[in-house]
Amino acid sequence: MQITFITNGNKQVEAKEVTSLLRISIREKGGIPFKCGGGLCGTCKCRIEAGQEHTDAIKPKERKHLSEEQFAAGWRMACQTFISGDVAVSWVPKT
Ligand code: FES
Repeated sequence: MQITFITNGNKQVEAKEVTSLLRISIREKGGIPFKCGGGLCGTCKCRIEAGQEHTDAIKPKERKHLSEEQFAAGWRMACQTFISGDVAVSWVPKT
């Protein structure tokens, strides 16, 4: 499956196994911001712009940091979101 990191100049990487979006980002230098990696800090908020059907169910931890409106617009937490097919993701760059 192909992951496109929109905010990182549309960088595209291949991922073979089903794993979290953050894990793919760290391994392939996708650039999604993160701190805890464990669903607590909310730093890894990102927007699935294409391929939402290739993400798994929203976790309770994500509901602490994101609203229903944001979920509807494609926002997820990368460390809590497992990917099973092509997706394109953007995020708010840290300054
Ligand atoms: S990295 Fe902290 S919640 Fe995802």
